[in-house]
Amino acid sequence: MKGIILAGGAGSRLYPLTLVASKQLQLVYDKPMVYYPLTTLIEGGIRDICLISTPQDLPRFQQLLGDGSRFGVKFDYRQQAKPEGLAQAFKIADTFIGTDPVTLILGDSIFNAGDILSQVLTGFNTGATIFGYHVNDPERYGVVEFDADGRAVSIEEKPKAPKSNYAVPGIYIFDNEVVNFAKMITPSARGELEITDVILEYLRRGSLHVHRLARGVAWLDAGTSSSLHDASAYVQTIEKRAGIKIGCPEEAAFQQGFISLPRLEEIVRLMPNCEYRDYLEQKVVAEAKRVQP
Ligand code: TTP
Repeated sequence: MKGIILAGGAGSRLYPLTLVASKQLQLVYDKPMVYYPLTTLIEGGIRDICLISTPQDLPRFQQLLGDGSRFGVKFDYRQQAKPEGLAQAFKIADTFIGTDPVTLILGDSIFNAGDILSQVLTGFNTGATIFGYHVNDPERYGVVEFDADGRAVSIEEKPKAPKSNYAVPGIYIFDNEVVNFAKMITPSARGELEITDVILEYLRRGSLHVHRLARGVAWLDAGTSSSLHDASAYVQTIEKRAGIKIGCPEEAAFQQGFISLPRLEEIVRLMPNCEYRDYLEQKVVAEAKRVQP
């Protein structure tokens, strides 16, 4: 399974900040936004990751994340010249995907979903799997409608009159057919290659599975000033209460066995004195040594 983090876009709703800085590099409580989707992919066991962003922002992601060895993963960086839609990611990453299935996650999607995503990824075979998440404001998202048996019957992008409260969150799992489907579709009225059109192709062929996320799961998107603030407040509340971090890729990489304990210790030693380092040193490393001295 390959992974794509789509971290371009215009970020117009965060203007004027996004005149000079990428949305996905903004702070969500105690770490850059992109750490959250990166952690989600690592938790799903994905090691080959393509990060797509704008020509001006891509160097900043490279500076932040490097070649990926710090997280036991390998990054391939690619440019999206213009924000021409989520489905364009599969065309840009065509040669990166090769003949593999692929998980696409949006750079501003923040999940606290336990091991649900990794379970779904492990069980994935063919077709497409997307998620349904109950929200208060479905008209802002792709919306999925279910029949009485819980099967998805329609998906509409930002509908004026949503047929359900189930939004499609920014993580999508596809078999390799997605590359062909992305090449088949044409731009929508707003000039974008819509992910919804790709998903509809799977729906038409009877190979779409929609996994409804349970109530306890949190999915936050951080695309507006207000939702960015909410996301930070949520992460702060959970982290303070539980004493464990959400969206810490080094910890996830260690738990997945992508990096060894000595390697994690080395990575931590190279960090400046900060709360992030204290967490890895005093919680993650110390706990690992306590369990396996
Ligand atoms: P959006 O939030 O829909 O778009 P945006 O980031 O451009 O923001 P705004 O609407 O405020 O202008 O995009 C969702 C995510 O997908 C976000 O992380 C940006 C990313 N994206 C791309 O990387 N390329 C694209 O062509 C589009 C449409 C989005």
